[in-house]
Amino acid sequence: MSNVTLHTLSAMKKNGEKFAVLTAYDACFSHLVSSAGVEVILVGDSLGMVLQGNDSTLPVTVEEMAYHTQAVARGNQGSLIMSDLPFMSYATPEQAMDSSAALMQAGANMVKLEGGAWLADTVSLLAERGIPVCAHLGLTPQTVNQLGGYRVQGRDKKSAQQMINDAVLLQDAGASILLLECVPSLLAQEISMAVEIPVIGIGAGAGTDAQVLVMHDMLGVTPGRSPKFVKNFMADASSIEEAVSAYVKAVKDGSFPAAEHGFE
Ligand code: KIV
Repeated sequence: MSNVTLHTLSAMKKNGEKFAVLTAYDACFSHLVSSAGVEVILVGDSLGMVLQGNDSTLPVTVEEMAYHTQAVARGNQGSLIMSDLPFMSYATPEQAMDSSAALMQAGANMVKLEGGAWLADTVSLLAERGIPVCAHLGLTPQTVNQLGGYRVQGRDKKSAQQMINDAVLLQDAGASILLLECVPSLLAQEISMAVEIPVIGIGAGAGTDAQVLVMHDMLGVTPGRSPKFVKNFMADASSIEEAVSAYVKAVKDGSFPAAEHGFE
């Protein structure tokens, strides 16, 4: 796979081609995932849960994100690397600049941050300084305490309209990609059509331009019951490589997510 850039992803959206996103946190899995044709590797702060064993992403630090980003960059075979800005590392625009600089210098090609309209100025500031941004709306795990749990967002008319407004505002502020987590499928589809930038979904139905899963979830190694939107691709595979390739194929041909993985 030749190097994936933001331009590649925009062109894919324009051509109606879906792209695959998967988390990875180290060099070996980065190599495996990018060799399997995953366009975007997300160095997610989900590492706080799946690697560190915390019950939320809140304890993760910028230093930890930079460490894992560096490892992923070393193994990468041409995917675009997106790294999460962790909790409280972008509470002010200045903090966002410093934290993003650390992740970009560690090898990220772009950063992701969670939140709506309040982040518009921060997104502009980063984009103007050459740091591409992915805005994350819907279920934003860093605000789990405020949301009262890991719940589907945008279920009523008012919050759905707010999410549409936030998506357009963040795009206009300079966000290059949008990620929607745990959002009703029809709303996610409406947002994907309302913005020009590519939209990645997780628990957001089949109407987005791309899909992401946490790698441990799609390999079926996360303890406990999986969320409804997860499919265990290891169940029918004889190797991890085969499972990741099956995921890429299913995202691209639209067979994942199926209706049963989405929310009404
Ligand atoms: O941290 C992460 O892995 C994420 C995904 C759940 C989208 O943000």
